[in-house]
Amino acid sequence: MDKKYYILTFGCQANERDSETLAGILQKTGYVPAAELFDADIILFNTCCIREKAENKVLSQVGELKELKAEKPDLIIGICGCMVQQEKMAEKIHRRAPHVDLIFGTHNLDQLPELIKKLEETKTPQTQILADLQEIKEDLPTVREVPFKARVNITYGCNNFCTYCIVPYVRGREKSREPQYILKEIKDLVADGVVEVMLLGQNVNSYGKTFDPPVTFAHLLEQVNAIEGLKRIRYLTSHPRDFNVDLIKTISGLAKVCPHFHLPLQSGSNKILQKMNRGYTREHYRELVETVREYVPSASITTDIIVGFPGETDEDFQDTIELVKELRFDSAFTFIYSARTGTPAAKMKDQIPLAVKKSRLQQLMQVQNEISLAINSQLEGQVVEVLVDGCSKKDQAILEGRTATNKTVLFAGSKELIGKFVDVEITDPQTWVLKGKLK
Ligand code: SAH
Ligand code: SF4
Ligand code: F3S
Repeated sequence: MDKKYYILTFGCQANERDSETLAGILQKTGYVPAAELFDADIILFNTCCIREKAENKVLSQVGELKELKAEKPDLIIGICGCMVQQEKMAEKIHRRAPHVDLIFGTHNLDQLPELIKKLEETKTPQTQILADLQEIKEDLPTVREVPFKARVNITYGCNNFCTYCIVPYVRGREKSREPQYILKEIKDLVADGVVEVMLLGQNVNSYGKTFDPPVTFAHLLEQVNAIEGLKRIRYLTSHPRDFNVDLIKTISGLAKVCPHFHLPLQSGSNKILQKMNRGYTREHYRELVETVREYVPSASITTDIIVGFPGETDEDFQDTIELVKELRFDSAFTFIYSARTGTPAAKMKDQIPLAVKKSRLQQLMQVQNEISLAINSQLEGQVVEVLVDGCSKKDQAILEGRTATNKTVLFAGSKELIGKFVDVEITDPQTWVLKGKLK
């Protein structure tokens, strides 16, 4: 009987993409997917450590598997992903969870079969963590769950060192993938039925700078846009420092690039932006938003904001609130600042008390939710094009999909529509979703 695998993925799209590679590697090694965790012969936790919460969640879930491992001694439990790249984390995991068999880093995915083999031969736990990626590995197998949408890496790692952020330490230095590999991957995906791609990088706007001659992100987009059969292009994430008018102009002329701009603001206070090492001011950010709206009037603009960064005063926080009210984002991911060991901000004095952070988060969410609802309400009665992703988790008779502007739309329809583009009339716009009916 085939051995079965189960992968739990935490964190961002980079991890989601890595899990597709892990699945590909395991299937090539002879494993098949398990329907549920308790059926699996190997369980992998692909972890995130962007905030403390993410980490605690993993450790407690791994802890819960102790009994299962005692019942099934041949079960392999592995932990990989960003969390294990942190200093002394492997030792901490071994100490806290001695039932873990494999620990491997974000640059060691391809070594999984070898680690499994060694574990089976020696019956001793295996650890393999490389501090940085030596060379991009191009031919790793991949298994995607969704046949019509795909994630495509364009850069790995990050060089920005925002002072709050752990990513540069756990994902290594920024490296761009050669355009020919990216384009070939997308052409193959399209031949396989993919209509929408998501280009991934921690800062996509700095793509290709190290090539000789350099390749710009704008030029890469032009080439992807020319791929026949592809319908939608998305990308994540833009950094406001490297995002510019030329890129906005290029995007406005490319039909397949979705009119959705995710532009993390982080803070509306210049003092805090500087302490965060973000490399732009609120004035520069405002100009970018104005330029986007000038060239792409149909655009939705979304953002990420952190509250309670060390030294954030009430005035700094009010600067954020004011800018949010002024710029009117379609939606925002809002976070409470979480100190990450090893980052400069964790060592800054004047850390903000949790109660203050929580109260600021509440205020910010309230302001943003009102704006989101007001913007979405304008869509009532309009017909939007939706790529149908699947059934809603709550109700199998309801389909869920995304507009080009990345808004979630819910409507009644049959499962045959999954993977297709349909027109939906918006009847009930809400803060987080648009409800509608098929046209
Ligand atoms: N590279 C992307 C995304 C990084 S992580 C970017 O620069 O936008 C996604 C979001 O998590 C960030 O935009 C930030 O808002 C948030 N984040 C990162 N580190 C954090 C921390 N230490 N505490 C709270 N939020 C954090
Ligand atoms: Fe983190 Fe900043 Fe890099 Fe984004 S750009 S991953 S926030 S260091
Ligand atoms: Fe988390 Fe790593 Fe992504 S820390 S947010 S999974 S790059």
